[in-house]
Amino acid sequence: MSNAVGQGAANPGASPPASSGYAAKPSSRAQAGAIEQCGAIQITNLDFFYGETQALRGVTLKAPAKRATALIGPSGCGKSTLLRVLNRMYDMYPNERATGEVEMDGCDILGPDVDLNLLRWRIGMVFQEPTPFPMSIYDNVAFGPRFLENLSEGEMDERVQETLLRAALWNEVKDRLSEQANSISIGQQQRLCIARALAARPEVILLDEPTSALDPLSSLKIEMLIADLKQNVTILIVTHNMEQARRCADEVAFFYLGEMVESGPTAQMFEAPLRERTRNYFAGKFG
Ligand SMILES: Nc1ncnc2c1ncn2[C@@H]1O[C@H](COP(=O)(O)OP(=O)(O)OP(=O)(O)O)[C@@H](O)[C@H]1O
Ligand SMILES: [Mg+2]
Repeated sequence: MSNAVGQGAANPGASPPASSGYAAKPSSRAQAGAIEQCGAIQITNLDFFYGETQALRGVTLKAPAKRATALIGPSGCGKSTLLRVLNRMYDMYPNERATGEVEMDGCDILGPDVDLNLLRWRIGMVFQEPTPFPMSIYDNVAFGPRFLENLSEGEMDERVQETLLRAALWNEVKDRLSEQANSISIGQQQRLCIARALAARPEVILLDEPTSALDPLSSLKIEMLIADLKQNVTILIVTHNMEQARRCADEVAFFYLGEMVESGPTAQMFEAPLRERTRNYFAGKFG
């Protein structure tokens, strides 16, 4: 029986749980090896139901630590549903349920003992439309650390700056940190949402069509950001843009009608997919 993610961290505001940060300094090679694995997701035989409607069927998929895995497939095939399972968002809706196994670094994500607040910071989510909180740019980034850690004012300033630098947004907002988050452009708001997730030092970030509402230049900035982030964070990205999947992803998983048809390294998936359905999808024969 695996451990539950966040178990024993019933009061995350008081002090950070030992397992919550990938930034912890390893003190031995063995520990360094363990941290290297941080954020590996293993999904096994996952079914998901919206009431009577089954949206995922027997999905088995591995998302390797510190790699970007793209989820692709026609509309309605279950890509967003899978992301909603990974941070237990469905728990907010009583008629939705998941069965099967989902583990992060060997810890159970679906179990009853999981601390859902903590899980949702450890596995952060960014949506198609930017969703900044109705507060300042600074407070958006500080939101997670304020919940999870007891940082001094100076440490919080450092965290906000460091995070906005990582999200490639610092130079554009450094003189307007106290302004409302909705005062910046949509592309900047999306990078701010990524920064808000990053500030909590998650192991995993889930991106659901993060550039579909953005202009080409803003999209490019997000793609460059993804390439940089995956040095530290595992990324699952849903995209309908095949070129984006090729550019950003190390692994690609193709979904159809709630099933994971095929997954593998990006080049192999695009150049030599094994399944006829995958080939047909790439050839534009459906979707
Ligand atoms: N709240 C809901 N209630 C009932 N069924 C739902 C709900 N949300 C999604 N579904 C159904 O679950 C299936 C998977 O939907 P999902 O949103 O995961 O697809 P998707 O692959 O993300 O599609 P898209 O590419 O259009 O975003 C679809 O058949 C959809 O109609
Ligand atoms: Mg979707």
